[in-house]
Amino acid sequence: MERYAEQTRQEFEGWEEFYSKPVDIKSDFFKQNDRIFDVIYAQQFDREFLDYLCGLADKIRLMARTKMGLGKLKHLLPHKRAMLYFVQPSTRTFLSFMNACHTLGLSVSEIRGTSTSSEVKGESREDTIRTFASYVDLIISRHPEAGFAEKTAWVLNQTERPVPVLNGGSGPDQHPTQALLDIYTLEREFSNIGGLDGKKIAMVGDLRRGRTVRSLSYLMKNYKDISLYFVAPDVFRMKEDIKGFLEKHGISFHETEDFKSIMPLVDAIYMTRIQNEYTENPSSKVETFPAFHFKTQHLGIIQPHCVILHPLPRRYEIEVSVDKDPRAAYWRQERCGMWIRAALIAYIFRVDQEILDEFS
Ligand code: NCD
Repeated sequence: MERYAEQTRQEFEGWEEFYSKPVDIKSDFFKQNDRIFDVIYAQQFDREFLDYLCGLADKIRLMARTKMGLGKLKHLLPHKRAMLYFVQPSTRTFLSFMNACHTLGLSVSEIRGTSTSSEVKGESREDTIRTFASYVDLIISRHPEAGFAEKTAWVLNQTERPVPVLNGGSGPDQHPTQALLDIYTLEREFSNIGGLDGKKIAMVGDLRRGRTVRSLSYLMKNYKDISLYFVAPDVFRMKEDIKGFLEKHGISFHETEDFKSIMPLVDAIYMTRIQNEYTENPSSKVETFPAFHFKTQHLGIIQPHCVILHPLPRRYEIEVSVDKDPRAAYWRQERCGMWIRAALIAYIFRVDQEILDEFS
């Protein structure tokens, strides 16, 4: 649909100043009564919270297996409504949040593009978001711009109807709930070998613009003796802000373009896609960087316990015949997203204890 008018730009006093502050100072603004209220950055999660949420996700998963258990879960939040505002393409994050909401009984409404909302008439984004808050109790957003979810939460927290905001991906910047599901998957995959502590993890591909690897790197500060291997073509190397963060927290990392040399060393390989949507002048010929692909023949050189992850969607990074190997964990990882997101929503609405009580 054609735009009738340019989008209205509104000035919010104090926003620029707030946005420029370091995350450790800002994150208190996204808490209520000492609990996380809005989920904006991965740095908001500490070890206690991560362990707690993984445990809660396991319980939800178990309950959802039976008609009676699922029935109980669906009775937890039927009085709550959620809005999925996904104006950047999404399959997994959208579906897993939607199904997480349904599992807990929430009703869901959705906007999947600005072309069918009043933004076409020139309404500002902030007024659009404020409108959602009039109808729902939770906003989950995905947006092509860094800082979008943060501004949404910042604006709403100053209104008389602050509803929690969950960041389902903010441009090339952050994807905190993907990091949660990645942690949950790694902890499960390593449950027989002492969990995630002490492990070596390779992150491969477009580390510069991939928000999943950025958010996951932040979470590594919560685990003991982690070694990271950043494997990327020179143009897509991990950015300095993340490397600075790792240095500050004493987390060891190595950078290389030689994927094959680190394959036998690591306990997990986290593959990613080249993020072509952020290319400024895309040419018709898209380079696929085959030296950073995981091929069937590589299964022979990785460790017997090494897990292969990918946030998906994949393009050519993992050969499809790798899927049959039990170490290919990406389809399990995808499903983990639904359970950990249900756990997060249960926590936000404080029905987590009711779930745990089922097991006491
Ligand atoms: C990722 C994303 O959107 O950042 N996908 C996802 O949420 N599972 C990864 C990607 O698109 O490459």
